[in-house]
Amino acid sequence: MLLVKKISLVQFKNYPQRVFGFEKRIVGITGRNGSGKTNLLDAIYYLCFTKSYFTSTEAQNVHYNTSGFRLEGIMERSGKADKVVCTLKEGKKDVALNDDSYDKFSRHIGHFPAVMIAPDDAEIILGGSEERRRWLDALLSQLSAGYLDHLIAYQKILLQRNGLLKTIAETGQNQDALLEIFDDQLVAHGIPVFEARRNFLEPFIPRVQALYDYLAGKHEVVDIKYQSPLLEMDFSKLLITNQLKDKTLQRTSAGIHRDDLQFLLDDHPMKSSASQGQRKSFLFALKLAQYEVISLHKQFPPLLLLDDVFEKLDQERVARLIKLVRSDDYGQVFITDTHADRLLQAFDGDGDIIQLIHM
Ligand SMILES: Nc1ncnc2c1ncn2[C@@H]1O[C@H](COP(=O)(O)OP(=O)(O)OP(=O)(O)O)[C@@H](O)[C@H]1O
Ligand SMILES: [Mg+2]
Repeated sequence: MLLVKKISLVQFKNYPQRVFGFEKRIVGITGRNGSGKTNLLDAIYYLCFTKSYFTSTEAQNVHYNTSGFRLEGIMERSGKADKVVCTLKEGKKDVALNDDSYDKFSRHIGHFPAVMIAPDDAEIILGGSEERRRWLDALLSQLSAGYLDHLIAYQKILLQRNGLLKTIAETGQNQDALLEIFDDQLVAHGIPVFEARRNFLEPFIPRVQALYDYLAGKHEVVDIKYQSPLLEMDFSKLLITNQLKDKTLQRTSAGIHRDDLQFLLDDHPMKSSASQGQRKSFLFALKLAQYEVISLHKQFPPLLLLDDVFEKLDQERVARLIKLVRSDDYGQVFITDTHADRLLQAFDGDGDIIQLIHM
C-alpha cells in the first residue's frame, strides 16, 4: 500500500514551516475555516503531480512575502520509503525523487497516484470543455506515461501550427509544405490520445453507474458520451477539410484539443438539468470510479484526498462514502472537516481507525 508517512512544508501557502507525521491509513484533518486544511491536501497532491490541484500559477503557492517554497514527502510503498522533494526557488521549479532531480516533471506522474475530491470539482460538470479534458487527461496520464508524452508533444506542435497559420496570414506566403509536416505530427500524436480517450470510457461508465447508485441509494441512469470529430472522420482528412477555415481563423479549429465529454442523467444533460445533489453524487461517483481504475491498473490503491465532503453530501451519503473508504480495497485517505467531533462520529467514534490532526 502507498502511504504518506511524513510531509514537511516550508513557505508553502499559509505554512511558514510545518511538519506533519501520518501514522494511520485514515487521516482526519480538522480546524476552522482558513486554517490550512485544504492547503495541506494540496501539498500532498503537489508531491504526486508536481503541481497544485487548484492553481497553475506557482506564485500563489508561495507564502506571502517570501520568494520560494519547499515540500518534502516521505512516501512508503511495500515497506520501501521514497523521498519526494518539490521546490520553487528564484522562480525555478525542481522535483526530485530520492535526491535525483527529474529532467522532465512528467516522468514523475503516476509514481504516486492520487485522487482529489474538492468542492470546486462541480466545474467538471458545469464548466467549459477544458475542465473535462483536464480531468480526463490527468486520469489517463496517471495510467500511462505514453499518453502524457503524446499529449505534451501534441500541444507543442499545435502551438507551432497556430504560429505558422498566423505567419501565413500576415505574410501571405505559401507554407503548405510546412503545414503538411505539422499536420502529420499532430495526427501522429493525436491519434493515440484519441484512442485512449475513446477506449477508456466503455469499461469506466459501469463503474460510475454502480458507485452512483450506491451513493445515491437509488438507480438513475448515468452516461458519459465522448464527443470528438475523430469518431466520424479521419484526423488527416479533418485537418485538410478545415484548412481554409484555419487559415482565416489563424488557429487550428478542429482536433483532440477540442474534444469534450457529455455527462447525462436519465438521458438529459447533467449540466442543465440535474439537481445540485444529483451533480454532487455524480462527481463522487466519477472520482471514485477514477480511484478504482487507477487502483486496478497500478495494483495498489492511490491516495484519496477528500476535501470538505461533509459540506457537500447529506448524512446518509457521507455514511455510505465512509463505509466505502473504510473497506480494505482502499488505501490511505485524507479527509478534512471543520468539526473534529463530527468527523470522529462518522467513524463511529473509533479513534483507533482514524488519526485526527487538529490545525
Ligand atoms: N500564498 C499564501 N501565503 C499565505 N497564506 C495563504 C496563501 N494562500 C492562501 N493562504 C491562506 O490560507 C488560508 C486558507 O487555507 P485553506 O484553504 O487550506 O483553509 P481551510 O482550512 O481549508 O479552510 P475552509 O474550512 O474554509 O475550507 C487562508 O487564510 C489564506 O489567506
Ligand atoms: Mg478548505
